[in-house]
Amino acid sequence: MVKIAPSILSADFSRLKEEITSVKSAEYLHLDIMDGRFVPNITFGPVVIKSIRQHSNQIFDTHLMIEEPERYIEEFARAGSDLITVHIEASNHVHRTIQLIKNSGCKAGVSLNPATSLNTIENIIDDLDLILIMSVNPGFGGQKLILKTIDKIKKLKLMIKESSTETLIEIDGGVNFKNVEKIAKTGVDIIVSGSTIFVGDPTENLSKFRKILRNSEQVE
Ligand code: DX5
Ligand code: ZN
Repeated sequence: MVKIAPSILSADFSRLKEEITSVKSAEYLHLDIMDGRFVPNITFGPVVIKSIRQHSNQIFDTHLMIEEPERYIEEFARAGSDLITVHIEASNHVHRTIQLIKNSGCKAGVSLNPATSLNTIENIIDDLDLILIMSVNPGFGGQKLILKTIDKIKKLKLMIKESSTETLIEIDGGVNFKNVEKIAKTGVDIIVSGSTIFVGDPTENLSKFRKILRNSEQVE
């Protein structure tokens, strides 16, 4: 079944430990790092990751929305990331950045903004553990999903099949209880959710997502 990766971007940061504990049954925890340059918002850095690492055994899925991510890979790896994703639009030598991530002991992902074509990853697809497809313009939680992304994921699924790699597909932004079933049908592996999980009761919201996904599988 497709996995849900809660994004703490919409969590209450004054109760971060509690918030993380409330979604501990999720295999992945999505960490949105924003620098106020690549995206018009600033979040948190390695210091926060390091302190929450002590309270979670989840796979830390670090999404770097920062310029020149290569400058910070080692620091984010040392802080406790398991998977580091950089934006293809933010790195001039993305192939080198991917090697840097792997050499730091992490799995490597590349993310594509909504306007970025799948052609941009054609030559690196075999090197990637994960491709993160942005379904909103990165920077903020609670935005509306851009529908065109659904076709993009279907195309990517075919690209991965043809290249016979094991690369996972993750979707990020605007996923809610209404559209999750449609998204799961694209063959995506991981679904990020921020506001739908953390507004209200996160444990309940996570179960609700899983219930919808289970039911939709039974229909198949
Ligand atoms: C947006 C972030 C997302 C965000 C998703 O730039 O990358 O991970 O937290 O939030 P929702 O699920 O609220 O769209
Ligand atoms: Zn994200």
